[in-house]
Amino acid sequence: MGKKLKIGLIGTGFAGDFHVRTLRRVYGADVEIVGVTSLRPASREAFGAKWGIPVFDSAEAMLDRIDLLDVCSPPYAHEEQILAAARAGRHIICEKPLTGAFGPADPTDFYGDKAPKAPMLQEVLERLKRIKQAVDETGVMFGYAENFVYAPGIQKEREIIEKTRCQILRMTGEESHNGSASPVYGIWSQAGGGSLIGKGCHPLGGILYLKRVEGMVRHGAPIRPATVSARVHELTRLPQYEDKQLIRTDYRDIEDYGFMHITFDDGTVADILTSEVVLGGIYDYVEVFANNHRSRSRLSPAGLMDLYNPRGEEFKDIYLTEKVSTQEGWSFAAPDEFFTMGYQGEIQDFVACAVNGTAPQSDLGLALDTTAAIYAAYVSAEQRGAEVEIGQL
Ligand SMILES: NC(=O)c1ccc[n+]([C@@H]2O[C@H](COP(=O)([O-])OP(=O)(O)OC[C@H]3O[C@@H](n4cnc5c(N)ncnc54)[C@H](O)[C@@H]3O)[C@@H](O)[C@H]2O)c1
Repeated sequence: MGKKLKIGLIGTGFAGDFHVRTLRRVYGADVEIVGVTSLRPASREAFGAKWGIPVFDSAEAMLDRIDLLDVCSPPYAHEEQILAAARAGRHIICEKPLTGAFGPADPTDFYGDKAPKAPMLQEVLERLKRIKQAVDETGVMFGYAENFVYAPGIQKEREIIEKTRCQILRMTGEESHNGSASPVYGIWSQAGGGSLIGKGCHPLGGILYLKRVEGMVRHGAPIRPATVSARVHELTRLPQYEDKQLIRTDYRDIEDYGFMHITFDDGTVADILTSEVVLGGIYDYVEVFANNHRSRSRLSPAGLMDLYNPRGEEFKDIYLTEKVSTQEGWSFAAPDEFFTMGYQGEIQDFVACAVNGTAPQSDLGLALDTTAAIYAAYVSAEQRGAEVEIGQL
């Protein structure tokens, strides 16, 4: 490495914040965040002042000063920003999910959970084709910010697959949180869906990645997802739901629970659970059942530190882990969450690849497969779990 990499950042929410923190911990490359932009002038000015980053009115205004555009805006904005960066020949990092279907230009009367899903799938496939074409044409580095790929356990699993040439027979995975820090999460027209896309994309991405690795090692080509059967539910909007004010409930038109059963083109399977209805912090893992070993990768709780604190007040200024509602009693603290969740690893890989001209572990192909699989899952869920083919791009 050694070369200077100039980065422009879009988005000053939760993701923008952890991208700055991780970019500033990258080793082996001279990284400079030369600009930041977001929708609201007040929040981008505050963010720029906090981190000492020049503020721009738009992404376009930053493009001729940067080598890489880091997209941390909500999903509805991703495609346009990716296309602008690719056409300008700039490398790209894009937060998950890659894109989605967001309804009509005026979303006032649009309810994504009630809208027909087959047209959404078609729209998403068109978007994926446009993104793939733009990135392929210019050959820029595209880092799909799927942190599960870079979690320490998933990277150890990659090594096991590569060195033992094993066959993975089945996998299970989950990502569940008590909602999201983003104010627009829960609104389909901005998020592109609910738990399946917002959270299920993570274990699905990790699982699709491992089958890609297995395919490359054993056959010289990725093993791809072939079909999906899915269900979705709106548990916090059930008429009989009893709200004890502990679980976030303000979802407009998204599911808060989802399940996907994936079959791969080699006949093996994976099962993914995802939800907004979990207390006690975030719950993220992937389990692998192979023909020569079995593994369980815990992203959160990762089990690095069990902590007992009898008085919550004593810990009021101490961050323990994401989305625990109390600092009192026993907790599973995450002493270095950016590392255990894979955030640091993904940013390190993307920077190294942009500087060295190499391909990242979490690439555009993985983003395309993940997004196509999830919108096929929405079509399946509309038919209460019918098996739906996943388009190949
Ligand atoms: N990998 C992870 O674990 C993880 C965690 C959180 C969020 N995310 C992803 O990061 C992205 C952002 O999520 P967030 O929680 O930070 O959201 P947020 O709503 O908190 O922040 C979004 C930011 O983008 C800006 N923005 C919105 N529309 C824009 C547009 N058209 N042009 C420019 N800026 C625009 C907003 O002003 C805001 O600053 C999403 O894709 C989300 O799924 C990933």
